[in-house]
Amino acid sequence: MNAPTMKGLTIQAPSYVKNAKLIAWVADMAALCKPEAIHWCDGSKEEYDRLCQQLVDTGTFRKLDPAKRPNSFLALSDPSDVARVEDRTYICSEQKENAGPTNNWMAPAEMRATLQPLFDGCMKGRTMYVVPFSMGPLGSPIAHIGIELSDSPYVAVNMRIMTRMGKAVYDVLGADGDFVPCVHTVGAPLEPGQKDVSWPCNKTKYIVHYPETREIWSYGSGYGGNALLGKKCFALRIASNMGRDEGWLAEHMLILGVTNPEGKKYHVAAAFPSACGKTNFSMLVPPAGFEGWKVTTIGDDIAWIKPQADGTLRAINPEAGYFGVAPGTNMLTNPNCMRSLDQGVIFTNVALTDDGDVWWEGMEQDAPGKALPAHLIDWQGKDWTPQIAKETGAKAAHPNARFTVAATNNPALDEAWDDPKGVTIDAFIFGGRRSNTVPLVTEARNWVEGVYMAATMGSETTAAAAGQQGVVRRDPFAMLPFMGYNMSDYFQHWLDLGMKLEASGAKLPKIYTTNWFRKGADGKFVWPGYGENMRVLKWMIDRVEGNKTEGVEHITGISPRYEDLNWTGLNFSAEQFATVTSIDKAAWQAELKLHAELFKQLEHHLPKELPETKAAIEQRLAA
Ligand code: OXD
Ligand code: MN
Repeated sequence: MNAPTMKGLTIQAPSYVKNAKLIAWVADMAALCKPEAIHWCDGSKEEYDRLCQQLVDTGTFRKLDPAKRPNSFLALSDPSDVARVEDRTYICSEQKENAGPTNNWMAPAEMRATLQPLFDGCMKGRTMYVVPFSMGPLGSPIAHIGIELSDSPYVAVNMRIMTRMGKAVYDVLGADGDFVPCVHTVGAPLEPGQKDVSWPCNKTKYIVHYPETREIWSYGSGYGGNALLGKKCFALRIASNMGRDEGWLAEHMLILGVTNPEGKKYHVAAAFPSACGKTNFSMLVPPAGFEGWKVTTIGDDIAWIKPQADGTLRAINPEAGYFGVAPGTNMLTNPNCMRSLDQGVIFTNVALTDDGDVWWEGMEQDAPGKALPAHLIDWQGKDWTPQIAKETGAKAAHPNARFTVAATNNPALDEAWDDPKGVTIDAFIFGGRRSNTVPLVTEARNWVEGVYMAATMGSETTAAAAGQQGVVRRDPFAMLPFMGYNMSDYFQHWLDLGMKLEASGAKLPKIYTTNWFRKGADGKFVWPGYGENMRVLKWMIDRVEGNKTEGVEHITGISPRYEDLNWTGLNFSAEQFATVTSIDKAAWQAELKLHAELFKQLEHHLPKELPETKAAIEQRLAA
C-alpha cells in the first residue's frame, strides 16, 4: 500500500497504483470532499457483485427474478433526477469565445470558487470510489485514460459495464502516464446516524468541464451522462478538445460494420441526436430481401476517429457497454438489443412486473394484440394498471428509462469492436429527426457540402435531456449538447481535416444525411424505419463501392430515385417514397432562413465555406 497522505483518513493506494500524480490528487480530493472511506476499485467480478449486493441492501437496487433476468437489477431514481441537465452543464474555458455561443460558460476561477464550498464535505458519511477506466481498448493508440472519483456505488458498477474499468488501467497508466481527472458527487452528505435515501442527489446541479486543464467536476446528479463521466463529459466534451489540439475527431456517432453478399466489409459512423434510434441502427437486422448482408456493431453512441499516415480514418468505440433508452425497444424495433438484455443488466427507471421482471412502454408492440400487464410498479414506485394509465396518462417507465449492458452481451457485436487499431471509416451519416423538409437520404457531392449538411442539421428534441420535447432545434453534427469548444471552430476542424486528407491523395469517406422521421398528412411516420433502414444503407454502400447505384441530384445533394432502392420484401409505394423524399421549395426557403439564423449565432470564426455553400443551395433553389 502507498503511504497515507491525509489527516484522519488513510489514502492507502494499492501497491499496483504507481502514479504519484494520481495518488496526490486523490488525497487532495479526499481532503476536500471528506468521505468516510476510500475504495480503490479493482474492476473484479467479486467487487461488482459485492457492490450490487450493497446497493440491494441499501434499497437502491432491486434484484430481478434470477430465472427471468439473471444477474440483473432495477434502480428507480429520484423523480427530479432523470436525464442530462443541459442548462446546468458548463464549458469553463479561460476565454468565453472558446466555449462558443452554444455552451454555458463561466470563468474557471469563478466556477472553482462556486464549486469549492459545494464540494467541501460533500461526501461526508459516504465512501469515495476511485474508478480507473480506459476509454477505448486498453493501450490502444486511440484510447485515453480517466479516473473518476465518485461517492456513488451505482456509478462504480455502471462504470464497470460502460468502460474498461479496473486494475489493468494502472498498468497502462504507469508511474507518470496522463489521465483525465473526473470528480463526481451526488451532493448528499450524511450526518452521523442519518438514514440514507435510495437515490441520493441534490436539487443544485453542476456538470462542469475545464477544457484547458482537461478536468471534469460533476455535482448533484446520479443519473447517466451527468454521473457516468466517461461518456458525454470525457468522451465528447473533453475529448473534442483533445481532438482539436491533436488533429482527430471525438464524435457522437455509432460505428457499424456492414458486409455485402460478396463478403466485402465496410464501416460506417453515424451521428444522430440523443434518443433517435442510434442503438437500433447500430444493431440493425437486415430484412427479407437482403439475404447475405450482415450488420455488426462496433459502438452505439460515441466514436473516436484518428487520421492515419495512409490517409485513412480509423475509429474506435471508446465505450465498452450501452446505456440505451429502453422504452420503444422490442423484438421488432431491435431484436439484437432485446437479446442483449437477457442477463447481466442494470435497468434504471423502467417498471417492475409482479413476477420480478421489467417492463416499458413499447415492449409489447412486437406482437399485435399482446396484452398490457395487468399491474406494475412504475418508475416512481407507484402502482400502475392499464386503467390508471388510461385515466391519468401515467407512464410505467420514464421515457428516458435506460439499460446499462456490456457490449459483449450483443449477439451482433463486431469481431473488431475491441481491436486497438480501430476500423477504417468508409462513410459518415448525419441523421436528424424532422417531420418534414429533409429527405430520407442525401449524399453530399463533396466534403464541404457534407460538413454544411451536418452543421445545419435540425432535430426535434427528445426525452434524453430535461426540458420541452418535440421542438426543432439546430443540432450541428448531433453534438449541440456535447461540444467542448466553439462550434464554428469545430466546423473548421472538420473542414481542415478533409482538406488535409484530400491533399494527401486519400479517398475521403462519403457523407450522407438521413431523416427516418418524415410524417404524412395523417401525422404518422411514413418510413417504416428500424431494419428497413437497411434499404438506405445498401444504397449508400453501393455508392461507396464506385457508385454501383444511381441517384438524382437536387438542391442539397444526391438522393436515390424509387427504382434505386431494393424493395424486395417491403410494400412501400412510389407515392409513399415521394412523401419521404420530396423537396418542397417553400419549406427549403424557410429552412435556409433558419440556417442563416444559425450562422448569425455562430458568426465568430464561422468558416466562409458554409455561407458559400448556402449561397450555392439558394441559387439552385431559385433556378
Ligand atoms: C445518450 C444521449 O445517453 O445522447 O447517449 O443522451
Ligand atoms: Mn448519445
